[in-house]
Amino acid sequence: MTAIDHQSAERVMGPSEALSELFTPAGKHNPYPLYDALWELGPVIPLGPSGTLVLGYDEVCTALRDPRFLVTDADVHRTTGMNEHSSWQCFTKIMMFSNSPDHERMRRFAGWAYSPREVTERRQLAAKWAEHWATRLAELDEGGPVDLVENFAVRVPISVTGELLGIPEADQMGLRSAITATTTAFEPVFDRDELLPADAGMDVLVGYLADLVRERRRRPGDDLAGAMVRDRDAGAELSEEELVASLVMFLIAGVQSPSDAIGNTVRLALQHPAESREMTADDDLVPAFVTESLRYDTPNHVLTRAAETDIDFYGHRVAAGSRALLVLAAANRDPRRFADPATFDVARKDNRPLSFGLGPHYCLGAAFARMQVEVAVPILLRHFPRLALADPPTFRDQLVTRGFARMDVTLNP
Ligand code: HEM
Repeated sequence: MTAIDHQSAERVMGPSEALSELFTPAGKHNPYPLYDALWELGPVIPLGPSGTLVLGYDEVCTALRDPRFLVTDADVHRTTGMNEHSSWQCFTKIMMFSNSPDHERMRRFAGWAYSPREVTERRQLAAKWAEHWATRLAELDEGGPVDLVENFAVRVPISVTGELLGIPEADQMGLRSAITATTTAFEPVFDRDELLPADAGMDVLVGYLADLVRERRRRPGDDLAGAMVRDRDAGAELSEEELVASLVMFLIAGVQSPSDAIGNTVRLALQHPAESREMTADDDLVPAFVTESLRYDTPNHVLTRAAETDIDFYGHRVAAGSRALLVLAAANRDPRRFADPATFDVARKDNRPLSFGLGPHYCLGAAFARMQVEVAVPILLRHFPRLALADPPTFRDQLVTRGFARMDVTLNP
């Protein structure tokens, strides 16, 4: 995989070229030079009749708050053929891909589950699993490289969310590849066959969680699946399919992006040893480090919206039915909002990246996700103060949900 040369990207590319380059494996591996090249064309870039690219911080905020920019629900997908795919059949039954009034109804149903109080109570759960997996890593150590994604970054969130939902430990890692596969459905689709892995993954998750729901009806439990089954059966406004889809969403969202955020934050810690040492020694410094990690290299790069009507947007016309691609990762490096944006700086003031979105669809699990990264990364670094990259990490072939495929490290070089 070749890295893209920053200078030449800026010099030669127009919007269509930079955009198609962005979705190549090399572009996904290192999209930042392409964002810089696109930035030269302005914070809002019309891409012809089908779409608009939005890169600026204020512009992305405006779009996320404007209800005329719809999330891609089943209605929006009526003409795309996506509704025939099991991945999107499930995704369009969750709040993330539902518009008003279904969106509010679903968010009301499940909102309590990730409230600040619940998150505070789960801190110990996250610490227990981070300690557990760091100890297991030490047991694996034979002096050679160990994949930190497989053995830590994925393990902590899958154990935490697994225990929370009520998924037995023995089943958790078996669901891992299905979870990652479903997130490939968020990438731009050039050929519908590209959705087959996501569909297969979704069939596994829907089957598993529908069984768990049946099991909780037979044997009620105190976990989140049990609580949600109880609420629905007590008359909450949610269909059976939406209940299963909500659990699927909590599993996917609870594992993939938190695991990607842990991977990104560990890499940044290794690249900034002084800041990392300070943060590991002083818990008060951890939140600023994690916020800057989320700004500098956010797990979710792009959100898609569909214009409900013609919209005048910063001097451009976004046509009804066309798509707006909101590039969170570029907005997080908008030089009008963040001074010296390509520098990792844990001392930034007023550091409010858009990594969890904004507006009505603001990430329900933001506090929960941050907490897990804040707990897991310092525990890992305290266990292995000499942790080092053995090779450059490799990325999954994804941009919308971007993260490392492998990250080989040595634990005690
Ligand atoms: C670092 C980890 C995470 C990142 C970067 C992240 C990012 C995001 C973003 C950008 C959105 C906005 C989507 C949009 O506007 O279209 C979102 C929504 C959402 N996220 Fe997260 N997320 C993370 C972790 C989690 C976790 C752990 C959960 C667990 C419940 C979760 C649940 C959700 C839900 C339910 C929504 C949809 C909210 C709505 O539509 O009202 N996320 N997330």
